[in-house]
Amino acid sequence: MKENYEKLKQAIRAYDYAYHVLAEPLITDASYDEAYRDLQNIEYEHPDWVTPDSPTQRVGSEVAAGFTSVRHTQQMLSLANAFTEADINKFWERVCNTTGMTPHVILEPKLDGLAISLHYEHGVLVRGLTRGDGLQGEDITQNIRTIKQIPLRLVGESVPEFLECRGEVFIQKADFDQLNQTIHASQGKPFVNARNAAAGSLRQHDSRITATRPLSFYVYWMDAEGLPQSHLERLQQAARWHLPTNKLVLQARSAKEVWQAVQKIGSLRHDLDYHIDGVVIKCDDTNQYVRMGSTAKTPRWACAFKFPAQQAQAVVQAIDVQVGRTGAITPVAKLSPTEVDGVVISNVTLHNFSEVARKDIRVGDHVIIQRAGDVIPEIVQVQLDKRGEYPPYQPPSVCPSCQTAIIQVQDQIVWRCPNTKGC
Ligand code: IVH
Repeated sequence: MKENYEKLKQAIRAYDYAYHVLAEPLITDASYDEAYRDLQNIEYEHPDWVTPDSPTQRVGSEVAAGFTSVRHTQQMLSLANAFTEADINKFWERVCNTTGMTPHVILEPKLDGLAISLHYEHGVLVRGLTRGDGLQGEDITQNIRTIKQIPLRLVGESVPEFLECRGEVFIQKADFDQLNQTIHASQGKPFVNARNAAAGSLRQHDSRITATRPLSFYVYWMDAEGLPQSHLERLQQAARWHLPTNKLVLQARSAKEVWQAVQKIGSLRHDLDYHIDGVVIKCDDTNQYVRMGSTAKTPRWACAFKFPAQQAQAVVQAIDVQVGRTGAITPVAKLSPTEVDGVVISNVTLHNFSEVARKDIRVGDHVIIQRAGDVIPEIVQVQLDKRGEYPPYQPPSVCPSCQTAIIQVQDQIVWRCPNTKGC
């Protein structure tokens, strides 16, 4: 009987991997549900058999206190930025100079999500941490368990005693739209972008909520005894253990090839299922990492090319105000619908009235708007040479929703409707 139980767990793990990582289901949803129910029934009969790596252990529960802080095995570094071809050439030259070799470089999309660190002991997921301040992260294991792409148990040959893998949790474009539609339909407040939604989901104290969020994950770094020396081979090894890895990986052996590969990933950007805000460039030979070392926050063996923010011109057709649930009043510019970086923008938040005054934004103005990656669009500046006889903007004196006189708090940064009942 216990043998059947182990076999059933193994089979469901394989179904989960095929469905969530490979997107190639092995069986129908109905057969899956049946197998899952069988597993639940066995576990109901034999609660002492249940192990944390059982596929049923992804449903989530509440953590009573806050998350505990855990020290990282080694610092979780971030990446130095490159913005131009010249910056990339500089990175290349420095790598050549410090290693005395012509490097082999790997390029990966820079995912716009959150870094996490996973610990596997004897192939079983035992811990999942946020990046935190880089030295210590928060233990969010319960939330991470709910991400179906993340194996609770590694599959395959020569799984090390202890394995750490780091990667990005993110939400795919289509999943994000669907999530916001669901939230909208239930009168909730939609997320401003996929990154915020992913961050909010990972920090839930009730992992049953996390379980309902469409989180995705890719590994981009791995460390353990006996791993291959090559970063690329490590990624291939990760995939053999059923950890999800990004298939879009390019290689380069000269500064020119690096630049070409960066542009190649940039050209694919809008067709990808997920948001990226740049390209990560890494030396393949991990043996060189120690030799090259790192600054306080960033390693010298990698850098991130950041795509430039896209700008466009638009006309301010109106400045409306929004009243939030707490009564906070926020001005919003209604713009002539303008495409920036593949997305049509027709509203931008102006944050607060002091900001409108500081930038002197008036109805009728031509403005430059900007959007960088998944970041909220903003007005960068007014084109004063195109300004007509437009009067300066006057903030409303009463709440547009209930007509109560507005009050100013916090040095006039936040404006509020004092009517706590309605607005
Ligand atoms: S490697 C020390 N690879 O970008 C190197 N990072 O500013 C560790 N990121 O905190 C990072 N995609 O969250 C790496 N393919 C990728 C990445 C990636 C996104 C994030 C990561 C990191 C930040 C660096």
